[in-house]
Amino acid sequence: MSRKVTKAIFPVAGLGTRFLPATKSIPKEIMTLVDRPLIQYAIDEARAAGIKEFIFVTSRGKGALEDYFDHAHELEASLREKGKKDLLDTLRATNMESGAIAYIRQHKALGLGHAVWCARRLLADEPFAVILTDDVILGEPPCLQQMIEAHEETGGSMVATMEVAADKASSYGVLDVAEDMGAIVRARGMVEKPAPGTAPSNLAVIGRYILAPTVMQNLNKLRAGSGGEIQLTDAIADEITEGRDVFGLRFRGQRFDCGSKIGFLQATVAFGLERDELKGEFSDYLSNLMSVRRAAE
Ligand code: UTP
Repeated sequence: MSRKVTKAIFPVAGLGTRFLPATKSIPKEIMTLVDRPLIQYAIDEARAAGIKEFIFVTSRGKGALEDYFDHAHELEASLREKGKKDLLDTLRATNMESGAIAYIRQHKALGLGHAVWCARRLLADEPFAVILTDDVILGEPPCLQQMIEAHEETGGSMVATMEVAADKASSYGVLDVAEDMGAIVRARGMVEKPAPGTAPSNLAVIGRYILAPTVMQNLNKLRAGSGGEIQLTDAIADEITEGRDVFGLRFRGQRFDCGSKIGFLQATVAFGLERDELKGEFSDYLSNLMSVRRAAE
């Protein structure tokens, strides 16, 4: 049995250049799918998985993200006065317990591995989760919970994986599979953004990780890797080289890459269609739109 995972790191210090000009003044994580910012989806997933401490690795210009978690006393008082109970509940569901959130600064965007390493002093000798808010996942149970349940069986480190087409593998970290046990695979290696045609499998790593504390020690030693950045993938691959276990979980659910425009648009449609109060009118709108476009072609 491995130790319980109660801390999660949310690296949110990236530049978000794919969403310029919006990200000139808005942190990417505050952009909304329907009416909830990306960060709220990530927090809800972490809470559902039993995470108690939330560590944000932030950077310059992310003030709006820190403010988002403050209790909005005036707004709550006004909604209470007006008897708007539903809105009050929605607002309260975003409140975080005092002391549950910590903010650490990454002074320069040196890569995901470096961002995770910045949180090293907030962790004891314990496994921890890393959640990339760009990856929004529709899944039941939520993806991180699936991983924590699997990790309780396996121990070691675990990454969430999904199958991708061969021509897409070079955009991801990819697992070299030693043993395929169905939902769980044991990794023999891991490569960040393999050159086209060289990917060791079609299992791509997406933005959910449960990592052994030794991964932090590996990050201490790392230099810049693929793309000139300090890569988390390299620190996880070092676990395997040093004889420790790394597993991949084929999670059940749908992942949206909300760090890209197309992924963000797809997620907006998918999450809009999930909402009871929107799905009727929204699906009619989409069907009509498609019919009009087809007729015009
Ligand atoms: P990405 O490279 O996908 O995001 O990093 P980005 O750099 O913010 O966006 P683009 O590519 O310029 O549009 C994946 C995750 O790692 C975090 C990002 O915030 C994002 O959540 N990250 C990346 C850091 O926290 N620090 C870094 O130095 C790099």
